[in-house]
Amino acid sequence: MTELGNHNAGIVIVGAGIAGVQAAEGLRKAGYDGALTLVGAEPHMPYDRPPLSKEVLLRAGAENTIALRDENFFAANKIDVMLGKRVCAIERPDRRVVLEDGSRLDYVKLVLATGSRPRVLAGLSPQAPGVFYLRTLADSLMLRATLARGGRVAIVGGGVIGLEVAAVAAGRGLAVTVIEAASRVMARAASPVIGAYLAKRHQEHGVAIRCGVSVDSARQDGDGCWRLALNDGCVVEAEIVVVGVGVVPETSLAGAAGLQVAKEGVVTDGFGRTDDSNIYAAGEVAYHVNGLEKGRQRQENWHHAAAHGAHVGRALIAPDTCYSEICGYWSDQYDTHLMVSGLPAGDVDVVRGDVTTNRFVVFHLVGGVVAGASAVNAAPELRVAKLLVRNRARVPASELQDPSTDLRKVAA
Ligand code: NAI
Repeated sequence: MTELGNHNAGIVIVGAGIAGVQAAEGLRKAGYDGALTLVGAEPHMPYDRPPLSKEVLLRAGAENTIALRDENFFAANKIDVMLGKRVCAIERPDRRVVLEDGSRLDYVKLVLATGSRPRVLAGLSPQAPGVFYLRTLADSLMLRATLARGGRVAIVGGGVIGLEVAAVAAGRGLAVTVIEAASRVMARAASPVIGAYLAKRHQEHGVAIRCGVSVDSARQDGDGCWRLALNDGCVVEAEIVVVGVGVVPETSLAGAAGLQVAKEGVVTDGFGRTDDSNIYAAGEVAYHVNGLEKGRQRQENWHHAAAHGAHVGRALIAPDTCYSEICGYWSDQYDTHLMVSGLPAGDVDVVRGDVTTNRFVVFHLVGGVVAGASAVNAAPELRVAKLLVRNRARVPASELQDPSTDLRKVAA
């Protein structure tokens, strides 16, 4: 039995998303055999979120295929899963958390894996009829049912959520307008080349993309139609409004408990420790140290949430190595499968392949070093590109774009 396992109270993980589940598994793999409780606010067994804006929106029944672990996993690993329970306070002096129903759970160590929540736009309340934000399974099922009934769709935010929803809605034949405040789509998550490529794909499917505009005011009329007045004087009419304007870290518990919190998240070190040695934070909520980068960072993607959750779980028992991970994400829009590893854009972006063939790679160079790569329908090429990113390879742009260069040799 480990030292932590000798306490009656065990380890409590708040948040049953990918980071929380991976932390629980990481603890068990590291040999922790004491009490372990995973508390989730949603009523469902832990599930995967990336399909919510893809398969689940597209296909009835897909929601039955998104469990993060099979039914036996939690019992077999003696993980007590509390569902539909929201933790509303941390009583640090007594080392316990308070649940919404007033009950309390003691902890020896506490892991906050509370993730992010969608940023809400003024005038477009998530409760308003016809307005959708997408973060939970319930959100996705409601949106799927609504899209099936038809109507015009206005999507505010041309990021990953906005464009994945646009692809599903346009694929159903609905009239879609994307309203993006920045000068191009996917400005946070993709390079200009990838953004332009995706915008073109959407336009080919009939999606109207409006960049450099935002919603000044929103009004729903008696006929159910939303009228979004844009700051350029235009009005977009739609029965369905989807808002995907980014997320904010869910730091309210940590903040109320007096932990060190920045606007990017709960401040942690390279092992997930907060400024309270009994409390850790994992995944998207953590403003964390990554040994491969300078300073702290916040990452918003599944890859990081999974890797960081597992690392923090292990680090609770065996804090041997600092978190060091090159993260990335993927996105599916129509028949485009985009995969990004490392930085999504560089000082210089080098295209390898022909964009018009719908299969190419973009290398993102920072100071001449390959700091990231994006692959469109080119998974094998991305595997090689990842090696270049990991090795911080310094490869001239002319070699990267030359199809006769064997990148496997360069990466070796
Ligand atoms: P995002 O940051 O990717 O995109 C938000 C977009 O909204 C940006 O382009 C931004 O310029 C725009 N925007 C901000 N304020 C605006 C305003 N007032 N009016 C119009 N546009 C505005 O965030 P998004 O798409 O909401 O996704 C949220 C999170 O979901 C991501 O951080 C990610 O963690 C997760 N996600 C991951 C996916 C994946 O891995 N494939 C897919 C979908 C979502």
